[in-house]
Amino acid sequence: MSEIDRAKWDKKYVAKPQLLRPRDASAVLKQYLPRGEGKRALDLACGAGRNSLYLAEQGYEVDAVDIAKVALDTLWREAQSRGLSEKVFPLLHDLDSFEIKQKGYDLVLMSNFLDRTLIERSKEGLKRGGLYIVETYMADERNEKESSKASNLLEAGELRTIFLDGYKILHFDEYENEDYEIYRMKKQVIVAEKL
Ligand SMILES: C[S@@+](CC[C@H](N)C(=O)[O-])C[C@H]1O[C@@H](n2cnc3c(N)ncnc32)[C@H](O)[C@@H]1O
Repeated sequence: MSEIDRAKWDKKYVAKPQLLRPRDASAVLKQYLPRGEGKRALDLACGAGRNSLYLAEQGYEVDAVDIAKVALDTLWREAQSRGLSEKVFPLLHDLDSFEIKQKGYDLVLMSNFLDRTLIERSKEGLKRGGLYIVETYMADERNEKESSKASNLLEAGELRTIFLDGYKILHFDEYENEDYEIYRMKKQVIVAEKL
């Protein structure tokens, strides 16, 4: 994968610069985020970093990982202009081979991206009492856009099964995606607290 995905996503961001524009952070992240001063978060596939920037504004130190340099450059410029450059740590990395070296994150977030094995691997990085939030697209016949790979889409109720053991589910929902998105898609979200 890696080089193909890197080229694909860099090209996509250049072709659709609206994807790089500042966007509101995830509603569920805003709703459930514990107070942040001194806390640490990991934003997996952060893109241009709408959620990383929000986390940093709330006082979190954020490791923001993505394969697309174009997106990380945008995040970094925005972090600097908002005075958040000491809070946001962009990491250019292929998540297929990303090792969670740091432990003790207060929050791990995967938004609009799905890698089931990465969820399992990164659970270790979350401390007890910390929150794991996954919010991404699911398979649905009314979706306006077909995913290039069916495996990139969640099945109905799937996130509950992924956080069955060792987690308390604080929130679960399936809903139509946000108005600012280009295509109508069904999404699924979970907020799971590690026990
Ligand atoms: C739809 S964007 C989501 C961005 C952000 N999480 C959000 O919710 O706005 C998906 C992101 O996944 C990144 N991505 C795709 N494959 C990746 C991989 N193998 N490793 C790291 N990032 C990857 C892309 O570069 C892109 O920025």
